[in-house]
Amino acid sequence: MLRLEGVSHAYDGRRVLHGIDLELSEHRIGVIGANGSGKSTLARTLNGLVLPDEGRVWLGEWNTHRHARRIRRRVGFVFSDAANQIIMPTVAEDVEVGLRPLKPGRAETERRVDRILQRYGLAGHRDHPAHLLSGGQRQMLALASVLATEPEVLVCDEPTTLLDLRNSRMVHRVLDTLDQRVVLFTHDLDLLAGFDRVLVMDGGRVVHDGAPAGAIDFYTRLMDAAADDPAAPDPPDLPGGRT
Ligand SMILES: Nc1ncnc2c1ncn2[C@@H]1O[C@H](COP(=O)(O)OP(=O)(O)OP(=O)(O)O)[C@@H](O)[C@H]1O
Ligand SMILES: [Mg+2]
Repeated sequence: MLRLEGVSHAYDGRRVLHGIDLELSEHRIGVIGANGSGKSTLARTLNGLVLPDEGRVWLGEWNTHRHARRIRRRVGFVFSDAANQIIMPTVAEDVEVGLRPLKPGRAETERRVDRILQRYGLAGHRDHPAHLLSGGQRQMLALASVLATEPEVLVCDEPTTLLDLRNSRMVHRVLDTLDQRVVLFTHDLDLLAGFDRVLVMDGGRVVHDGAPAGAIDFYTRLMDAAADDPAAPDPPDLPGGRT
């Protein structure tokens, strides 16, 4: 289980996460919040891409300050722009490189790569240059390559932002069927139906934590209030929140 203990973080002296305590044990957890509310920063603390200035992020007995490599192998990360994480020239090679730490052997590697490409609709692109895939196909490849490593937890930071409806539905379906735990940071509220828990972030804090419908309602009212008064320095004190 992922656990955050007093996590605070600042960039150049400007604090963007404020003492966050969380236990992330549910199967499907969503995180929503305004632009700049700290979602990506929080997402990146979960696998040690960002090491918080204060507090610790734990996976079981390990924390990201001391065991970032081990944690990164178990907590997979998908960015919104897959170009950030496709590192090999061809589609098959990109999946294969993720399998290397598992040392499956040549024949087993081939079998797994084929199975994964099949599953994510990329079998016809096996030996194509990864950079020539469409945005949606690239995103499926990024997802496939991360899932090939068999992480315990998958953290996705806006995986559908750059996708058309068909591809975002495909990502949605893939996320739906995973056995792994998923922590999904998104502006795409439709993705959250059926989730076990949704957190709302505002100003670097978790301001609401509950079931999807209540969280979306809370977030909508928060955004409406902000739109009415864009100069307001702090979020309004809405009922139903938990800080
Ligand atoms: N590498 C960085 N260096 C300096 N400031 C940063 C950096 N990354 C993020 N920030 C700042 O931290 C704050 C939180 O950013 P973050 O990317 O975590 O927000 P977000 O909720 O993911 O926003 P969005 O919905 O737009 O993706 C913002 O004010 C942003 O400008
Ligand atoms: Mg972000």
